[in-house]
Amino acid sequence: MRSIKSSFLAAAALAACIAATGAASAQTEVKIGYALAENSHYGVAAKAWAEAVEQATDGKFTFRQFPSSALGGEREVVEGLQLGTIEATIVSTGTLSNFVPAVGATDIPFLFRDLKHARDVLDGPVGQEVLPLFDDRGMVALAWGEQGFRHITNNKHPIGTPADLAGLKLRTMENPVHITAFETLGAAPTPMAWPEVIGALQQGTIDGQENPLSVIVSVKLNEVQKYLTLSGHVYSPAMLLVSKSFFDNLSDEEQQAFRDGAAKGVVAMRAFVDDVEKSGVATLKERGMQVNELSPEQKAEFQSSLKAAYQQYYEKYGKDLIDRIIATK
Ligand code: PAF
Repeated sequence: MRSIKSSFLAAAALAACIAATGAASAQTEVKIGYALAENSHYGVAAKAWAEAVEQATDGKFTFRQFPSSALGGEREVVEGLQLGTIEATIVSTGTLSNFVPAVGATDIPFLFRDLKHARDVLDGPVGQEVLPLFDDRGMVALAWGEQGFRHITNNKHPIGTPADLAGLKLRTMENPVHITAFETLGAAPTPMAWPEVIGALQQGTIDGQENPLSVIVSVKLNEVQKYLTLSGHVYSPAMLLVSKSFFDNLSDEEQQAFRDGAAKGVVAMRAFVDDVEKSGVATLKERGMQVNELSPEQKAEFQSSLKAAYQQYYEKYGKDLIDRIIATK
């Protein structure tokens, strides 16, 4: 009887030990999913973030990289964070405004003057007020990253005026702010998840798309697009986020390691964007793209054509907030 009891206790202890080991090792692997390749701005940020956390925690946490939408489109990855099946991501606000609508204010066209203005707003009070809003959505937003300014590519013709967009089947993100803008400009916006975009461009179901140079260069969109118009119509922020259920189980020191690591990821990401904003046009011309840049007058025409859209943005996000962003020096 005693030996049955002690065998049972030994088996129970072993099971508990296996469970504990399993739980510990499950916690130490941080699955990070993102839409672009490891040699993109997302990839370099994810690498810097991973290295910083791994170093600060003496290897207790190791990141497992899932680049190029290997875990699904951005929406699925964000849902994975909410469910706790994916621990971390780097994702554009174009997707995030479907989860935290206030983020959409940062996607308004012609809102930011340049990268410095955008970074000052996001690192300042306006941006920092947005980060905690993710806590109620099952995520912790650790830092603002970025992609750069979005430009239009297509296979029909160069774009110089809003009239050139008439009827153009332009893929947009599944983002109400972007969709409103392109509808107002007279294009035929076709919202689509990123993993479907290259195939749709190859098959001609869409004529064009819009993304920053960081994306156009790293994805080699020149292989499926002829014309690049440097419209800079909207700044494209991104965020570094972790699952709240994962984060809440970390010690204070570990949480700080994730925060500090995310900040290092942002530094790497911004350096990448700075670089590609300077070199990207030459690279794409070398690869055969036909490039035109909107003159200040042409940009002004786009801006004035967006007046009706701005009316909607004021109603949705508040004129005060939009004015506060514009007034940031
Ligand atoms: O266009 C998009 O969907 C996004 O900019 C991308 C390329 C997935 C990066 O976040």
